[in-house]
Amino acid sequence: MKAEVTVIEHPLVQHKLTLMRQAETSTGKFRQLLHEIGILLAYEVTRDLPLKYEEIKTPLAPMFAPMLAADKKMVIVSIMRAGQGLLDGILELIPSARVGHIGLYRDPITHVAVEYYFKVPYDIDQRDVLVVDPMLATGNSAVAAVDRLKEVNPKSIKFLCLLAAPEGITHFHAQHPDVPIYTAAIDEYLDENGYIIPGLGDAGDRMYGTK
Ligand code: URA
Repeated sequence: MKAEVTVIEHPLVQHKLTLMRQAETSTGKFRQLLHEIGILLAYEVTRDLPLKYEEIKTPLAPMFAPMLAADKKMVIVSIMRAGQGLLDGILELIPSARVGHIGLYRDPITHVAVEYYFKVPYDIDQRDVLVVDPMLATGNSAVAAVDRLKEVNPKSIKFLCLLAAPEGITHFHAQHPDVPIYTAAIDEYLDENGYIIPGLGDAGDRMYGTK
């Protein structure tokens, strides 16, 4: 199976990402930009949603018009806590989506992901899932989140982030080659603390002003 990585090169996404990377960007501005990028990324990541044709009436004439074909709304699964920033923007574009949450913390020594929360719609096995986390760094959280989601058997899974490290992509696709990755950029490398270089720092801390 070919493991897919799509870099979303839309100029607005790239411009906003550069603003987010800058150390002097304030907490409020960072959050606003992540929200706006979430909307743009959602637009790109949903390009391949299947359509069906239904008969409708405009004020002037009947026609067969395209509508989303899926019987059930998609599920956006946010990896807490930084996933929340992307989720908010995505929900602005897809307000009827269902939402799941996975709580994982990164062990500061081993960088291994440890689960502390998991809540998804009961009928997720009939729905397509988009997992969101701004930073694909070591890939440990993303792998753990998808491992856990596969236990509840969704129809399909995509993974969306803002920034990815090459090491994270390799690790993720070694475990889940069937899950396509969408990202706005692939950076240079991971440092010894598991941070993406040049990156943008700690996404959660920058979103919430906790550092
Ligand atoms: N998580 C972040 O928020 N930033 C990184 O660079 C890596 C992981």
